[in-house]
Amino acid sequence: MRTHLVTGVAGFIGSNYVYHHLRRYPSDKILGLDALTYAGNLENLESIREEERSRFKFIKADITDRSGMDAIFREHPVEGIIHFAAESHVDRSIQDPASFLKTNILGTGVLLDMARGYLEKGRFLQVSTDEVYGSLGREGSFSEATPLDPHSPYSASKAAADLLVNAYHDTYGLPVLITRCSNNYGPYQFPEKLIPLVIRNALRHQPLPVYGDGRQVRDWLYVEDHCRAIDLVHEKGHPGEVYNIGGNNEWENIGIVKLIVSILREETGDDAINESLIRYVKDRPGHDRRYAIDATKIRTQLGWRPEISFPDGIRSTIRWYLDHQEWVEHVVSGEYRAYYQDHYGSRLV
Ligand SMILES: NC(=O)c1ccc[n+]([C@@H]2O[C@H](COP(=O)([O-])OP(=O)(O)OC[C@H]3O[C@@H](n4cnc5c(N)ncnc54)[C@H](O)[C@@H]3O)[C@@H](O)[C@H]2O)c1
Repeated sequence: MRTHLVTGVAGFIGSNYVYHHLRRYPSDKILGLDALTYAGNLENLESIREEERSRFKFIKADITDRSGMDAIFREHPVEGIIHFAAESHVDRSIQDPASFLKTNILGTGVLLDMARGYLEKGRFLQVSTDEVYGSLGREGSFSEATPLDPHSPYSASKAAADLLVNAYHDTYGLPVLITRCSNNYGPYQFPEKLIPLVIRNALRHQPLPVYGDGRQVRDWLYVEDHCRAIDLVHEKGHPGEVYNIGGNNEWENIGIVKLIVSILREETGDDAINESLIRYVKDRPGHDRRYAIDATKIRTQLGWRPEISFPDGIRSTIRWYLDHQEWVEHVVSGEYRAYYQDHYGSRLV
């Protein structure tokens, strides 16, 4: 029985990864860590099936706390590390870069030291982002050889972490892997990000803010396809290498907003959900124009390809948010986090 240590399990992709991995690998265990920041909610993990609960253990922990991390690694032998934990919202990184540098760079450094000290044969997988490559013009796409050229404190902190990960491979021979994925969508995404934000505001007939002219292009991938790719790279990837992951599914932001509006109106029958709610607002500084991923390497070398089509994925995502409006309000208000802190204190199992 293998045990993987997974950081950031109470966030969007981390929680989806836990569900995915427990289901797909019925003899694996997961030791999940999360500091439960505003973006991390244990409610995201409540749907772990009864028969899988004994294979999942949660510890509230801050990856920047070196002695705390050391105690966890000493107590719990693990075979591999999948590192999701991060400050992840670009707008917040513009307001408060320091917390991004701390968690994304120093926290990754602490984890790399733990891997060096405690991982006997396993691998360290750094979950990174296409944003480290910067911005594209109308044509072309990012390959693994594209130079790093980040523009926001968020993407710069992720790029710095990626360089550290590479350095630990080159200097200490640590078996590391880096994945760089495009924009994810799906259940459990904190409603500050584009898709859940637009759904929540539209349902409340509130303005739908769109930066600049709304013509920034992103490549969208269903979160479960990302999780599958991570497992594949973790198991079969070549140590020291980077693997791009993308959906080959480019959309202008304004196109996504209009699509959500039309699906939501259809699903709810509410005619007040319409494009008149859209408001163009002042563009974000340093806003990258276009991201597009060339995922040829993971496709040809590891046999990965997206399995969820965008029309299916976006409709089921919208239905999920419609069915989980209580979750949306809990995580926005921080109500659940406060509940867990009061009931379980700092260390949760
Ligand atoms: N969301 C995307 O579209 C996307 C795309 C590509 C890559 N990524 C990367 O995937 C990872 C997960 O992204 P997400 O969208 O799930 O983010 P998220 O913000 O939803 O989740 C991040 C989680 O990390 C936890 N965390 C933050 N600081 C911590 C700390 N110091 N110690 C321990 N835990 C801490 C938070 O509590 C939260 O649960 C990030 O590394 C991000 O850069 C995200």
